[in-house]
Amino acid sequence: MCGIIGCVGRGDETLQTLVESLGKLEYRGYDSAGVAMAGDRIELRKRAGELDALRAAVPETLPGTVGIGHTRWSTHGPPTDENAHPHVDCTGNVAVVHNGIIENYQPLRDELEAAGHTFESETDTEVVPHLVEDGIADGLDPEAAFRSAVARLEGSYALAMVVAGSEAILAARNDSPLVLGLADDATYLASDVPAFREHTDRVVYLEDGQFARVDRDGWVVTDADGDRIDVEIRTVEWDAEDTGKSGYDHFMLKEIHEQPRALRQCLQGRVDELAGRVSLSELGELDPARVHLVAAGTSYHAAIYGAQLLQQSGIPAQAFYAHEYALSPPPIEDALVVGVSQSGETADTLGAIREASRRGAETLALTNTVGSTMARECNRALFIRSGPEIGVAATKTFAGQQTALNLLTIAASPPSDARDAIAALRDLPANVQTVLDESNAEAVAEAYGGSDAYFFIGRGLNYPVALEGALKTKEITYEHAEGFAAGELKHGPLALVTGDTPVFALVTGDGEAATKTIGSIKEVEARGAPVVAITDGQSEAGRYADHVLRVPETHPRAAAIVANVQLQLVAYHVANRLGRSIDKPRNLAKSVTVE
Ligand code: M6R
Repeated sequence: MCGIIGCVGRGDETLQTLVESLGKLEYRGYDSAGVAMAGDRIELRKRAGELDALRAAVPETLPGTVGIGHTRWSTHGPPTDENAHPHVDCTGNVAVVHNGIIENYQPLRDELEAAGHTFESETDTEVVPHLVEDGIADGLDPEAAFRSAVARLEGSYALAMVVAGSEAILAARNDSPLVLGLADDATYLASDVPAFREHTDRVVYLEDGQFARVDRDGWVVTDADGDRIDVEIRTVEWDAEDTGKSGYDHFMLKEIHEQPRALRQCLQGRVDELAGRVSLSELGELDPARVHLVAAGTSYHAAIYGAQLLQQSGIPAQAFYAHEYALSPPPIEDALVVGVSQSGETADTLGAIREASRRGAETLALTNTVGSTMARECNRALFIRSGPEIGVAATKTFAGQQTALNLLTIAASPPSDARDAIAALRDLPANVQTVLDESNAEAVAEAYGGSDAYFFIGRGLNYPVALEGALKTKEITYEHAEGFAAGELKHGPLALVTGDTPVFALVTGDGEAATKTIGSIKEVEARGAPVVAITDGQSEAGRYADHVLRVPETHPRAAAIVANVQLQLVAYHVANRLGRSIDKPRNLAKSVTVE
């Protein structure tokens, strides 16, 4: 999704700071980028494609000490130089960047064009500078003109604007994230903290309906009437280095390897092994009659896993695609509605949470992002503490979600002996480390990279892992991959199975799920498909497989977390062999802030 940066206070270094910050926002996904510097006039540089194209178009400095920048993820109009942000008005004195969708842009554009404005792009955003231009022409100062323009917008927006001759950035937020970064010598404004984390750890998250003004004298947050709002200054708990690659070729590989640490952080201070209890004091009393988990993508797979855990503990629970839930919610009654979301900004999941709130449900955000919209809008928040995840493909945050869902389940369940599950959680970081140290996933990728399609099968807690293995493979290899409940194979998908479609079978433990999945292995083998078993050796799965990806023996709940790490590694190595853009897969964005 689009990324916004603004900077006041870095003097001659402003332009280069903006460009560097855009680099820190690349992970969000983008297809074009641009910057505007405001001095006596607006200096604009923007290019379609990778940030390098913009870097080549930008000199060392440009006149002005205030600037805004943007990475665009197209919604209205293809990725071209013209459609890249910032957008300017007819005079070229007003420059605006925007994240979100202005739903009423067409009538506004018709009105503005009829009044004589000329548009240079196909974007929804461009109506904003033209509306501001009209306000200024009517005698308003830039801030009043900005407010009056924003008042006419419907839809979602994080907006930042600079005006020639003014040393201020004006910003507004509705349904798209915006955060201020407060350094001693400069003030930043961005879609996300990594954009300015190397300069400061002090932040202010803007809320919907709030405006901000940032200039050389400081910053102020106001409401729609212009009244000052007292906001909380927070301190970010992770370091700038956490957003670097630390010697790994890709962020995704680094983040896969960070999992042991991320899981330790998730568990820290929350588990009392001796008493066999989990304490999530941040959630208060937890006694849900039923739980609805709403999510999208990888987080939806975590939600399916979480629903199974809760059901096993006797709590009625169901996972829903957030977009479907928002459209036609089931009876919510006394449900606790849990939004599972790495970013806490996914529009679909926010939509479901808001619908649940409207219907009077209690809501809980299970997220990695402190200060995210979801964390602030829900009645309670449980943070997974994975640290920043830059790769578009979610890896460590999926493991973090699974782990936090284990904690939530134990905390919400009637008192019972959870010692086995807790011991498995204690061993989880070490077991993940064992997989990372000993995995032969690269050899498996070598053997099967270039196949016609990749299928993933699992039962019970391994079913969402099969879905996740397929999604990861799709996202970063661009190859056809599908995940199935192993029992479904013979009801249709078996028709797709050939000698060129390796089947990755998740078989952990030695129970019924394992025995039946071995049955599925035999079915696909009979059709000539090569089989890769992800197994702990407790069953005979390895005997029937062409390749084995070994995982340590552990509690079934933990096995589903550990086994997934092997699939992350296979997807990574297949994508790497194919030379794919692993951290920024085509067409995808890290944080999907439009519905
Ligand atoms: O930030 P969220 O967890 O709400 O994001 C949901 C999905 O967009 C996300 O999981 C997506 O599927 C990832 N690219 C998966 O790797």
